[in-house]
Amino acid sequence: MPQIYDHTHHANIPAEAIPAYLAERGVHYEFWPVDSAPDTLRRQDSLTPEEQQQILSAFQDSIARLSQERGYISHDLIVLNPHSTANLEELLKNFERTHIHTEDEVRFIVDGEGIFTLTRNGDTFSVTVQAGDLISVPEGTPHYFTLTEARNVKAVRLFQTKEGWVAIYHDEESVNA
Ligand SMILES: [Fe+2]
Repeated sequence: MPQIYDHTHHANIPAEAIPAYLAERGVHYEFWPVDSAPDTLRRQDSLTPEEQQQILSAFQDSIARLSQERGYISHDLIVLNPHSTANLEELLKNFERTHIHTEDEVRFIVDGEGIFTLTRNGDTFSVTVQAGDLISVPEGTPHYFTLTEARNVKAVRLFQTKEGWVAIYHDEESVNA
């Protein structure tokens, strides 16, 4: 279960209220047990393409089901940590800029953790996701992503189109406006 802090109301959302909180805001959430993938592999800092494929294969049934239900056509695995990501801090600076996408941003956390901060219906809230959490940031939702102090995440990304997952940054929009 993720943790949620509501910035607008200065409140932590109690665990039992989180499913309804996310549903009311149109954020799709699922929990997939991660024990179908070997722990040693999930926790490895870097992964060969074969090892990445091995992790994706461990979740293939859930990926196929969700893709069918929600129209995702492709997926991959992203690995972010200081050992395998040379320019991690630079990359994070971009991730931490508020942006939108023209499709849902879907992430299933295989290992580590990350924080999505979203603004929906005027409320801004941060969702800390950990291994087993799947979250979908709805299309057109202003958001940004960052890592926790642990600086480690492995996540399956699911895509609706080949072109859709392009960040449209708010600060660029305001420069152009
Ligand atoms: Fe995004």
